[in-house]
Amino acid sequence: MSELAADTRTVPTIDELRALLRARRAAGASVALVPTMGALHEGHLALVRRAREVADVVVVSIFVNPLQFGPSEDLDRYPRTVEADVAALAGLGVEFVFAPTVAEMYPDGAGGTTVVAGPVGSLYEGAARPGHFDGVLTVVSKLLHIATPDVVLFGQKDAQQVYLVRRMVRDLDVPVAIDVVPTVREPDGLALSSRNRFLSPEQRAAALTLSESLRAADAAAHQGLDEVLAEGAAAFGDHDHVTLDYLVVVDPDTFLPVDDDMTGEAVVLVAARVGGVRLIDNATIALGRAR
Ligand code: PAF
Repeated sequence: MSELAADTRTVPTIDELRALLRARRAAGASVALVPTMGALHEGHLALVRRAREVADVVVVSIFVNPLQFGPSEDLDRYPRTVEADVAALAGLGVEFVFAPTVAEMYPDGAGGTTVVAGPVGSLYEGAARPGHFDGVLTVVSKLLHIATPDVVLFGQKDAQQVYLVRRMVRDLDVPVAIDVVPTVREPDGLALSSRNRFLSPEQRAAALTLSESLRAADAAAHQGLDEVLAEGAAAFGDHDHVTLDYLVVVDPDTFLPVDDDMTGEAVVLVAARVGGVRLIDNATIALGRAR
């Protein structure tokens, strides 16, 4: 909205960010928040570019949130590249990078008040990663209270996360608009993810199965649900490096699996393990009636 901000300032504390934003708001500026865990790629940068279009001040948070990692998950291994992240953001006119420590965000450690994601939080990604979405919603809720943005931006790649954040904002009457940006893909179709960097060349090739499966599901959409599921799963075949976790077609309004007779817009969710790396992807399809 405004011209490029001159400098990007890294802000480590809640109080400082609040004071800086108070001053910008007093001058009439609108604020967009892009929550991230860092290890930024083009998908994040697309969120930032969109944020620049819809608000005067862009805040990007970089915080690897321990609450959303299970005990056996990759919290320690999660890539941390803050310097490179800040350099990438500076070129995009981001005014503030909020990069708090764990102690700043959770001074009393885990075990305090949390947001409960509700029934959809235990399905799909939530079934594979119990408590994950409670952790996501808790930190998103905190970030929304800290930055009080006019708009918060998320990527469509994390479709279940987007659904649950929308639910939280609606159920808890949070005064913020949500802007969802399409998934950014490599030219061959692989959805960008911070975890792609862990893939070996063979695994990288195998990871294409997720987007191929979505394309197959889309091509079968006019034939109804059974064909969508069969064609989507068939794409996985007997691949050495990739194991399908789930392939499910959900109603975008409820995020519950669709009935056999549903027609119209639906979302195909897919998750698979490629070597030790868990990947997800999704696509919106127009479901037809089975013949
Ligand atoms: O999508 C992510 O990177 C994280 O889940 C989020 C929204 C930044 C919360 O930690």
